[in-house]
Amino acid sequence: MNVGAVIATKRKALGMTQKDLAEKLHVSFQAVSKWEKNVACPEVELLPILAELLNTSVDALVGYRSPILSDYEARYQTEDYYWGIVPNRFCYEIMKRKPPVKPLKVLDIGCGEGKDAVFLARNGYQVSAFDLTDAGLEKGRLLAEKCGTYVDFFKADVKDFRPTQDYDVIFSSGVFHFIPPALRAEVLESLQEHTKPGGLHTMNVFVEKSFVKESPDKDKDRYRWKSGELFTYYSDWLFHKMDEEIFDCNSGGIPHQHCMDVMIAEKVEA
Ligand SMILES: C[S@@+](CC[C@H](N)C(=O)[O-])C[C@H]1O[C@@H](n2cnc3c(N)ncnc32)[C@H](O)[C@@H]1O
Repeated sequence: MNVGAVIATKRKALGMTQKDLAEKLHVSFQAVSKWEKNVACPEVELLPILAELLNTSVDALVGYRSPILSDYEARYQTEDYYWGIVPNRFCYEIMKRKPPVKPLKVLDIGCGEGKDAVFLARNGYQVSAFDLTDAGLEKGRLLAEKCGTYVDFFKADVKDFRPTQDYDVIFSSGVFHFIPPALRAEVLESLQEHTKPGGLHTMNVFVEKSFVKESPDKDKDRYRWKSGELFTYYSDWLFHKMDEEIFDCNSGGIPHQHCMDVMIAEKVEA
């Protein structure tokens, strides 16, 4: 989509008229109309404000797609499952702490090829899962079909996605380093707001450590978190797990290490 189409779509989704948007930006409604018709473009300095008002990112506004995506698209083009099909160990933690004795809604953010989403769906959860790669989502759908289960797979960008329904569990592994620091508070706040009381957030983030060298095949456009930063967004939640782990990795064929902050936190009603 071009800039004008993105502005028009997002504006309408938020129920704003061109005049509403123009007033918030201190420009004329004719200016907004010209942007939407692609006759003119918003000034560069307006882009961050416009992105915030439209609940999106500057990248999404200008139609920028990170090169990392094509890397993942390529990795997922094979018949094999790039990440395997063994579920993440935190899926078992979810089952232990929130067993699906009643219908529980789970959201898997950046689900890759869907191994964790499908595992949870097979075990009785109502799972929605999104990623930015078409190939990953397609393989997720195939895996669900093969396993005789259903996952609501959809395409979205973690930078732009703001839930419209509430979840019992929000899970994400190896993805939040694609959220630029300036967007983290807003993204996490929105995920927290859309978590039911007693709900869980099970997440991990790559963190910076001066003594842990960058991996040779490091993701482009990634923003490693500060050590402990993730936990600061959850000061009013109950922590079941807040750990920092350094582990060996051999991706790209060169042995190296990663450091991750790992969290299981529960939203407790006051
Ligand atoms: C390290 S993989 C993890 C995949 C999966 N969570 C797993 O553990 O198997 C990172 C995933 O994030 C996805 N991704 C990258 N940027 C994204 C974005 N902006 N929004 C949503 N997903 C994104 C990639 O396509 C990829 O599937």
